[in-house]
Amino acid sequence: MTDTYRRIVLADRPVGEPTAANFALREEPVPEPGAGELLCRTIYLSLDPYMRGRMSEAKSYADPVAVGATMVGGTVSQVVKSNNPAFKGGDFVAGMTGWTEFAVDNGAAMRKLDPAQAPLSTALGVLGMPGVTAHTGLMNIGRPQAGETVVVAAASGPVGGMVGQIAKIKGCRAVGIAGSPEKCAHVVDVLGFDACVSHRDPGFRTALGKACPDGIDVYFENVGGAVWETVMPLLNPFARVPVCGLIAGYNMTELPPGPNKIPLMMRDVLTKRLTLRGFIVSDFLDQWPQALGEIAGWLREGKVAYREDVVQGLENAPEAFMGLLKGRNFGKLVVQVGHDPTA
Ligand SMILES: NC(=O)c1ccc[n+]([C@@H]2O[C@H](COP(=O)([O-])OP(=O)(O)OC[C@H]3O[C@@H](n4cnc5c(N)ncnc54)[C@H](OP(=O)(O)O)[C@@H]3O)[C@@H](O)[C@H]2O)c1
Repeated sequence: MTDTYRRIVLADRPVGEPTAANFALREEPVPEPGAGELLCRTIYLSLDPYMRGRMSEAKSYADPVAVGATMVGGTVSQVVKSNNPAFKGGDFVAGMTGWTEFAVDNGAAMRKLDPAQAPLSTALGVLGMPGVTAHTGLMNIGRPQAGETVVVAAASGPVGGMVGQIAKIKGCRAVGIAGSPEKCAHVVDVLGFDACVSHRDPGFRTALGKACPDGIDVYFENVGGAVWETVMPLLNPFARVPVCGLIAGYNMTELPPGPNKIPLMMRDVLTKRLTLRGFIVSDFLDQWPQALGEIAGWLREGKVAYREDVVQGLENAPEAFMGLLKGRNFGKLVVQVGHDPTA
């Protein structure tokens, strides 16, 4: 084992789009675990859109990362040393140890992984937080009924991809929105959606209308911005909108220029009796085991597929994260930080 390890800290808070200068690589001696603690070696680090919010000081549902602290992040690690009887050296665990090659943790929020059940990296995507987000948001708020039309953007990503696939399992028409012809082809050909249209295509509005001939009953909101404005007029009476993410605005520094469209939107909410409900995946903590169990079953039965975009090396995490906010990833974005002995 090496004597030193690297971690990436928040060097500075971004204004608008994050830049390389907002991150700094630190090299330090590998720490010793104290009483009840474990030393973990990171294998995979998850990169997720919510991290942009944690880089800002703005009030949100979670505290910001402090300047100088390790960037927050979900990880899959191998236990190197354990002073905690619940874990032993060699165990594989999923936790929140952040952008780092090694971490000391008390294990309280860690779950053990069995590499014989699924590849380890899936604990960060299809069998992790994004998969559960799709499942709980769609089933609790979207409440899809057979024959209805379900639309989701960022459809080739881990949340959107799973939303559409669950919609299909529930007997719905699933329509994706994605950022390129390649992503749209994947969403239809591999994930099995009925249609997928590109929000970058100048004919987006017309194409979305054609893909939803009976209107939209559930719109799983992942992006906001221009996509939401295009979807809104297509919503049917009593449509449900789980508001999961607004990535189009995460780098926004000021409100877009007028006119003020809130009155029009509220008129639609009233006259169409729409339900819009924001949620955070942690609102449904009690449903995690059921959601993960159900997705694992669908995976075994070949009813759902997933795609990963794996970047090599912790030092490349900032660049990959900046790309995520612009749609450069294609599938669940994961950084391979260390050797995976099970691969
Ligand atoms: N509420 C919760 O608890 C929770 C939990 C997890 C995730 N989320 C949210 O769910 C959403 C999807 O997350 P994910 O992990 O599955 O991400 P992802 O799909 O892997 O990556 C984000 C995708 O968003 C799309 N995008 C970026 N900027 C956009 C823009 N201006 N307009 C339209 N699309 C844009 C890009 O896809 P295209 O190239 O296809 O446009 C990009 O690849 C995010 O908003 C995230 O914050 C919420």
